[in-house]
Amino acid sequence: MEIIGKVFFDLPRQGPGSNASTSRALKTFSALPANPRILDVGCGGGMQTVHLARESGGQVTAVDISEPLLERLQQRAIREGFAGKIETLHCSMDAMPFPDNSFDLIWSEGAIYNMGFAEGLANWQRFLKLGGYIAVTEISWLTDERPEEIFSFWQAAYPKIAGINENIEKIESVDLLPVGHFPLPVSDWWNEFYHPMEKRCQELLAEYTEASESRDFLENELREIALFREYSDNYGYVFYLMQKPPA
Ligand SMILES: C[S@@+](CC[C@H](N)C(=O)[O-])C[C@H]1O[C@@H](n2cnc3c(N)ncnc32)[C@H](O)[C@@H]1O
Repeated sequence: MEIIGKVFFDLPRQGPGSNASTSRALKTFSALPANPRILDVGCGGGMQTVHLARESGGQVTAVDISEPLLERLQQRAIREGFAGKIETLHCSMDAMPFPDNSFDLIWSEGAIYNMGFAEGLANWQRFLKLGGYIAVTEISWLTDERPEEIFSFWQAAYPKIAGINENIEKIESVDLLPVGHFPLPVSDWWNEFYHPMEKRCQELLAEYTEASESRDFLENELREIALFREYSDNYGYVFYLMQKPPA
């Protein structure tokens, strides 16, 4: 749907996050080699891709299914002086063409849900060198209390949403070692994602005045934002940090 591009392509990010949270997760991996080879899966417009290149000193390969978003990443990389450190690849995250054991670090913010948390981890880890690291964010229940309104919203939108302990069990079930996790602060949802997205949806609603699929889409996005305003204590994005066993 054309409307998806109109809402999302020019936002600062395409999901919750911040450079501060990317840095916090990256610093956990103190044993990363100098100039690591990094794979960023579902990179979108690539705010975290450029930040990873800047902070790690490494080389980043960034994969996404959306060509317009990869173009935005390329423009951002040129603007910020990292074009030589970032390579983009247009392909699906479930069909990536890399040899086994090619990366020191696999990164994915707000994108692994497209395959499912456990499925993505199981599929991607062969690309990691022994002892390599993975950092992903995944929508997660933060409390055992799951009020009916928000529970049924997520059951319809993403029934695989799980609690933090359940996700840690999934990490162990695919033979990765959990090395830490932290929830993204609520400001990571608002500053570079929901605030600009809310404004964009309202502008577009003023253009799409007739009943249509596009109008329904915009109203659903605004409902998602309203639900987060009410229930952000109960769910959020969590950074999960893990390692492929060294041997
Ligand atoms: C919520 S956005 C997150 C983007 C970016 N990582 C960020 O945090 O701003 C999810 C991204 O996954 C990408 N995506 C969806 N399905 C995909 C697939 N099968 N393979 C690769 N990328 C995919 C979308 O195009 C989008 O850029």
